[in-house]
Amino acid sequence: MLRATAVAHSNLAFVKYWGKVDHTLNIPTNNSISMTLSDAKTTTTVEFDASLAADEIEIGGVMTSGDARISKHLDRIRAMAGSDLFAHVQTRNTFPSSAGFASSASGFAALSLAGASAIGLTLPDKELSMLARQGSGSACRSIHAGFVEWLHGSSHETSYAVQVAPPEHWDLVDIAVVVSAEAKEISSSTGHKLAENSLFWSERLRGMPALVDTVRGAILNRDFETFGRHMEAEALSMHAVALTSPHGNGNAWKSGIYYWAPDTLLLMTAVQNWRADNLPVYFTLDAGPTVHLITTSGHAAGVIAAVEHIQQEKDWRIFVSRPAPGAHIIKNEDSR
Ligand code: DP6
Repeated sequence: MLRATAVAHSNLAFVKYWGKVDHTLNIPTNNSISMTLSDAKTTTTVEFDASLAADEIEIGGVMTSGDARISKHLDRIRAMAGSDLFAHVQTRNTFPSSAGFASSASGFAALSLAGASAIGLTLPDKELSMLARQGSGSACRSIHAGFVEWLHGSSHETSYAVQVAPPEHWDLVDIAVVVSAEAKEISSSTGHKLAENSLFWSERLRGMPALVDTVRGAILNRDFETFGRHMEAEALSMHAVALTSPHGNGNAWKSGIYYWAPDTLLLMTAVQNWRADNLPVYFTLDAGPTVHLITTSGHAAGVIAAVEHIQQEKDWRIFVSRPAPGAHIIKNEDSR
């Protein structure tokens, strides 16, 4: 059987995917735009093996007793190829899972490519993106290099990501400041479901098509100010929805989801002050406390110095990413 190893990078959304019209197929309510990140990489090897009675899955060097989400994704690949063979899967990230990068994005992009390749399927990027999307929505964007847009579509065939511009188009830098290693209480998948309970939900969606056009246009024109202002406001719009998404019952009822830690707010405020002092930097936040500081390469050292200045004794970790390549195969072996 064939064995294949693929690499994929995580991605950071500048316009967020938050809410789905189909929670099984991961069809989102709006287009989203992201950058594929150089400093957050997953390497995955898949080998289908006729002697196996179940999938064998090793994550970060540790053998699991099975992983339902990975096996379900392998089922999709098996169904596409008409195969019933189980697989050995080995997957490893270059970044800690608590770092505030979407490890499911790089993970399912790498698994899709390695799995499809190992089973003998040659899928065009569009189909690879559709496959990855079913594992985790944001994974469909990690198939592509550089700047990427996920077209929301309305069905499996119409919901996939496309490249907006290659990595070398713009020297943006993401300085991710990990302020808390605590696991989040509400997963993204649950957050997507709760979003429609927010009173701001429909308002967020109403402005989306114009916002997506503006952010895409600002990327294509390398207009940092227009890009940064819309990106930062858009992150707060997603969090406004999360903050007003009630959930839980009885005494466990909560009025909303707070993905932030106290230091998240500290950095968000600092960014506004740094800008006032002529440091060109904007922030965005995913469903977690990590603050992503976006600047251009000429100002990256200045932003890192500014972070270190306020960090003092705090136990923050910094990951610096530039636009990265898309998912690709690094090893294909015929082990028959
Ligand atoms: C806030 O892709 O992790 O990072 O499709 O349920 O796996 P599932 O959700 P996921 O959601 C990502 C949410 C986000 C915004 C984004 O990446 O666009």
